[in-house]
Amino acid sequence: MNTVNKKLEYFENQLDPQRPEQSAMPCKVLGYGEITTVLDLGEKDRAFKRMPMFINEEEITNYKHIFHLYNEILTEKIGVKVAQSDLITLASSKYNNLVIYIAQEKFPSHAIGNKCLQRITKESTPEFIRLLLEQIYKVYKFNEENKGHLELGLDAQISNWAIILPGHSEEVSSFADASVFYIDTSSPLIRKNDEELCNAELFLRSAPSFLVWILRKFFLKDVLNRYYNVRLIMIDLIANVFKEQRTDLISTIISEVNHFCLEKNIFTEDQQINFSEVKSYYREDALIWRLYLMFRRVDRFLHRLSFRRYPYILPAHIKR
Ligand SMILES: Nc1ncnc2c1ncn2[C@@H]1O[C@H](COP(=O)(O)OP(=O)(O)O)[C@@H](O)[C@H]1O
Ligand SMILES: [Mg+2]
Repeated sequence: MNTVNKKLEYFENQLDPQRPEQSAMPCKVLGYGEITTVLDLGEKDRAFKRMPMFINEEEITNYKHIFHLYNEILTEKIGVKVAQSDLITLASSKYNNLVIYIAQEKFPSHAIGNKCLQRITKESTPEFIRLLLEQIYKVYKFNEENKGHLELGLDAQISNWAIILPGHSEEVSSFADASVFYIDTSSPLIRKNDEELCNAELFLRSAPSFLVWILRKFFLKDVLNRYYNVRLIMIDLIANVFKEQRTDLISTIISEVNHFCLEKNIFTEDQQINFSEVKSYYREDALIWRLYLMFRRVDRFLHRLSFRRYPYILPAHIKR
């Protein structure tokens, strides 16, 4: 076992998911995703995404296979750069589960899309947004060409991208020669012959047990469909502008998206996206995530009441 694996094993065994940063082995939470918690464990070039939801080896093998396939198709067939990742599996005696850590190349905080969005100027906004639209377009084109046989889902929200400028500059006045990396590869959404390859139950594992059947029956398919629908992907991306409190940029961004989509024949004049549509989408989305987090906290509390360990790390609060 190499030193990183040993370190992860030690970390996992001593981790208190309720207070990860106060565990005996220090760590820093870099971000809370929908599926993973992203940790800095003091390795210079690596961020670690913790996924404690696997129950047997078969699930691990399948997940690894689909994860690698998703990364490979994105990079080699579609031409979207992804953050380089290795998957490390551990057995957790504490939760009687298997845990995957995605050891991913670490990007500086200023390079993560939402941090860029917070700092960009109005002048550089069209260039910035276009960088992301071009990546979405590559996936869209691939999906159109392979419709019904092989399609990839993409969660293009702004915090799922890293933007690296020449010389690793923190400047945001120009994005010429920027490299864009997709970092949220933990949900490898691939549809082969219209069937989701990844076991969608995995996405429900961290949901409160008292909600699972409702989510499975009424929401899961819709949520997954969202990532295959280019118009909804665009709306979701624009809604991030509210989340990052840059409403001053919203009209510039909406017109850039519409312009791009018309130019590339992604949609027609009457399908253009408008302000009120994005705003109501954002409101609903923010409410759903707030409620969902609240239910997860209730679930954690119920675990404690019944002396069961709760394996997930929950954010203290989410600003949306
Ligand atoms: N490789 C990385 N380097 C630095 N920070 C990262 C990296 N990956 C993720 N993060 C941080 O963690 C957040 C959530 O990560 P993400 O990959 O979107 O998780 P999830 O797959 O659960 O949605 C990101 O928005 C970012 O702030
Ligand atoms: Mg994410």
